[in-house]
Amino acid sequence: MAILKAVRGTRDLLPPETALWNRVEATARAVFARYGFGEIRTPIFETTELFARGVGEETDIVSKEMYTWEDRGRADSDKGQSLTLRPENTAGVVRAYIEHKMADTGMLQKLFYIGPQFRRERPQRGRYRQFWQIGAEVLGPAWSGSDSALRDAEVLEMLATFLDELGVKGWRLALNSVGSATDRPRYVAALREALAPVKHLMCEDNQRRAETNPLRVLDSKDPNDQEIINALPKIADYLDDASREHFEQVKAALDACGVAYTVEPRLVRGLDYYTRTTFEFTVPDGSGLGTQNALLGGGRYDGLSEMLGGPKAPGIGFAIGEDRLILTLQAQAEAAAEKKLDIFIAPMGVERNAEALRLAQELRRAGLSVEVGEGTFRLKKSFETADKLARRMVILGEDEVASGILTVKDFAAGEQTKVPRSELAEVLRR
Ligand code: HAM
Repeated sequence: MAILKAVRGTRDLLPPETALWNRVEATARAVFARYGFGEIRTPIFETTELFARGVGEETDIVSKEMYTWEDRGRADSDKGQSLTLRPENTAGVVRAYIEHKMADTGMLQKLFYIGPQFRRERPQRGRYRQFWQIGAEVLGPAWSGSDSALRDAEVLEMLATFLDELGVKGWRLALNSVGSATDRPRYVAALREALAPVKHLMCEDNQRRAETNPLRVLDSKDPNDQEIINALPKIADYLDDASREHFEQVKAALDACGVAYTVEPRLVRGLDYYTRTTFEFTVPDGSGLGTQNALLGGGRYDGLSEMLGGPKAPGIGFAIGEDRLILTLQAQAEAAAEKKLDIFIAPMGVERNAEALRLAQELRRAGLSVEVGEGTFRLKKSFETADKLARRMVILGEDEVASGILTVKDFAAGEQTKVPRSELAEVLRR
């Protein structure tokens, strides 16, 4: 008889790996508690209408990816209804917020959740049909301070602390503001106008998005369309004064806390409910995720509660892809366990070989472990060799020798920095 297997896109989690899952979840609980969050557990399935209204009919999640079925009624009086396995948990949390009249407390609600979500996506490494999220929502009536920029910065700072405590290396925070519910239509109109004369030059997907949901064009990874997309109007130019001020305050608070971020004007994210701040944390290439490098995402929302029949309750939240976080921790632990040299020196051209050897001598005498490449190597081959042998690579070309400023590539962090030759040994020792 044929052996039965777990359904495509789902998987078993076994020991010893489950110990790592438990460590991640325990760290989340411990960190979130320090910020005043309490746990909420909502059902794994809800009415289909909740997601249609909450997440948005036009989104990929609702239009293509939900596991929906017609649930039979048990008696004539108990009519059947359409139910759906939750594809995300923000809509469920806001439903619970309304149902349990949490607004009546007048207090800010800080709720976190840990649990499986379901999306019918094409499975690949880091993308599953049943996957886990660790998420949180901060919401409440406006007078509880729920729409303050301070809350956005607090949530982002908490995530930075969480990733640092887990030991995730090289994470990056991409930040944007998608504006208010009134900014967005003006921006979408400008996008439509800018896309009209050029959309026929774009891939089929983008031609369709240009019609149905022009914001989605900004997400497109199609290499041929990037030039057109980069030239499109930027949302930042369409923010009203209040949204612009909010974004400035978020950035100032992050600066004050020393949380590094990059403003990414194309970050609009795939759910309809976002207003103002949106964000994503990614990890560098080589962290075990392939192309699925978004570790977590989230943003602010205003209007979601009203969309579900509740009182005004602005909020901000996020969801961490726990599967992706685990893959990252595993890959980074593996990389750290491999014994690697401090640096690989890549001379550009045989004329640089002697100078490369001299630099190696200098660094080795300073106590660092060094391998020297070969001037005949192409840049790509130098990169590949360096990545296998060493944690970092320095390129030695004509310009570098002349200027004494060297470019150091850190493979784990995915970063390039410029370092004066006189400081190289010291920087590499860190
Ligand atoms: P999302 O961006 O759809 O946002 O998902 C958040 C994270 O879940 C992603 O960054 C990714 O790490 C992970 N994820 C999504 N789909 C999959 C999948 N098929 N397999 C593995 N991991 C996946 C939300 O879900 C929003 N509810 C976040 C939020 C909360 N916004 C405000 N509050």
